[in-house]
Amino acid sequence: MRCSTLHAPAHYLMSTPKPVIRSRKPTMSYENLLFEVKDRIAFLTINRPDKLNALNDKVMAELSQAVDEITGRDDIGGVIVTGAGKAFVAGADISELAQQGPFDGKARALRGQDVYRRLETCGKPVIAAVNGFALGGGCELAMACHLRIASEKAKFGQPEVKLGICPGYGGTQRLPRLIGKGRAIDLIISGRMVGAEEALQLGLVHKVVAADDLMQESESALRGIMAMGPLAVRLSLEAIDQGCDMSLDEGLLLEANHFGLLAATADMKEGMGAFLQKREPEFSGK
Ligand code: COA
Repeated sequence: MRCSTLHAPAHYLMSTPKPVIRSRKPTMSYENLLFEVKDRIAFLTINRPDKLNALNDKVMAELSQAVDEITGRDDIGGVIVTGAGKAFVAGADISELAQQGPFDGKARALRGQDVYRRLETCGKPVIAAVNGFALGGGCELAMACHLRIASEKAKFGQPEVKLGICPGYGGTQRLPRLIGKGRAIDLIISGRMVGAEEALQLGLVHKVVAADDLMQESESALRGIMAMGPLAVRLSLEAIDQGCDMSLDEGLLLEANHFGLLAATADMKEGMGAFLQKREPEFSGK
């Protein structure tokens, strides 16, 4: 079952596109992230390589700020998330998790889930360029991105049960939605790690590339998406995201509403005009 047929919460059905603050803020400074915008792509690198980019509270707070920056800046049209050194992200920081009690443990999970959810719904395409270990919160971060391109050296897993906990940043929910319930159960309750090729077979990643080609392949995939109508990409992502948790009829209505809405955009006129005039479109995102 890839899509749940559960009824969507009321706020999903009533949701409207999030207001985007139009601004060109200077890049904020981060201690544990590298954040660079090049020609409309934000390159977001988790940068704590001596700890395999383990997500401590400080990294999560910075990630939260970075997601706000991505959402709010109109000079960013897409995002590539990766990790510094040999890991993508080897999970939440176990030295912090070891100190937690039930209430701060729950609060930590809710904070992480919120950051990932805001990234997933930022309205811009996000690609995870998975360069190495993507474990626990790292696998969950990759799953919150829209596409996953893996280096042949990447390894994926939800090893939380080995630590006596369950996934907390969305793994029990996104993994079954991505690869099916049975396969997700296998990965989560065994805690086993899979290599890039198996991840590809499972449908967890979209493409496996040579390690040296990872960033170039990811950028070229993202530039391809960014050449499409940005509002069309945004509303397609939103219809898929929300529709998977709706009944078929509700999802079809959502799709028809988005289809109709896009007919009011300059982008539709440009896209169709360009086709009819046999030229490349130049979308304005309006
Ligand atoms: N939290 C905190 N520190 C972590 C970490 C994590 N999730 N993952 C790795 N590290 C730290 C290690 O403690 C080590 O720090 P040290 O040099 O100060 O001792 C450093 O990163 C390098 O890790 P190391 O284990 O020596 O590398 P390795 O190549 O031998 O093994 C892994 C790599 C990924 C297999 C191993 O680090 C691991 O199992 N990490 C935990 C994965 C996990 O359970 N994640 C889910 C957490 S909920």
